[in-house]
Amino acid sequence: MKGRNFDNGRKMFGAAACFACHRFGNEGGMTGPDLTGAGGRYSPRDFLGQIINPSKEINEQFVPSVLTKNNGDTVYGSVVNLNGDTVTINTELSDPDQRVSVDRKELKSIEPSKVSPMPPMLLSSMNESEVLDLTTYVLSSGKRDHEMFRAPSR
Ligand code: HEC
Repeated sequence: MKGRNFDNGRKMFGAAACFACHRFGNEGGMTGPDLTGAGGRYSPRDFLGQIINPSKEINEQFVPSVLTKNNGDTVYGSVVNLNGDTVTINTELSDPDQRVSVDRKELKSIEPSKVSPMPPMLLSSMNESEVLDLTTYVLSSGKRDHEMFRAPSR
C-alpha cells in the first residue's frame, strides 16, 4: 500500500461505477452509504471483502426487502409505502421512479433480503495495480497527501 497513484484510484472509482451509488467527498450518488469516512473503518482486506462479496455483510440501513405473493412470485427492492391496501416497492435502486405496487390481498410475506443491492464482480476488469490504487484512494479518505501516495524511498 505504498507509492500508489491517487489520480488513477479516483479514475477507477468512476470507472467501476462506485460514484454512481456512493458519495465520496462532495460528489457521487446517494443510493449506497457515504464512503468518505471509510478510511478509518476498514483494513484493506475488509474493504476489498465488502466489494468482492457485498452480500456477506449488508449495511443494515440498506437491506432490501423481498415480497412474496400468494402465487409464488417475488419482488425485490426497497419498500417505500406500507400504508393502505397496497405495498409499494422501489425495484431499481438507481431510479426512484421505478415502482411496483402489490395488493395486500395478494401478499404472502415481506422479508429482509440476503442479497445486497450492490453488484458483485465490480473489480473483475481491473488489474492488481488498479485495484490497489482504488483501495488506497478510498482508504485515504480522498487525501492526496496521504503517505500511501508518496514515492517509496530507498
Ligand atoms: C448499484 C449501486 C452500487 C454500486 C455501483 C457500488 N455500490 Fe457499494 N454499496 C451499495 C449499497 C446499496 C451498499 C449497502 C449495502 C451493503 O452493505 O451491501 C454498498 C456498500 C458498500 C460498502 C460497505 C459500506 C458499509 O457501510 O457497509 C463498500 C465499502 C462499498 N459499497 C464500496 C463500493 C465500491 C468501492 C464500489 C465501486 C467498485 C461500489 N461500492 C459500487 C451500492 C453500490
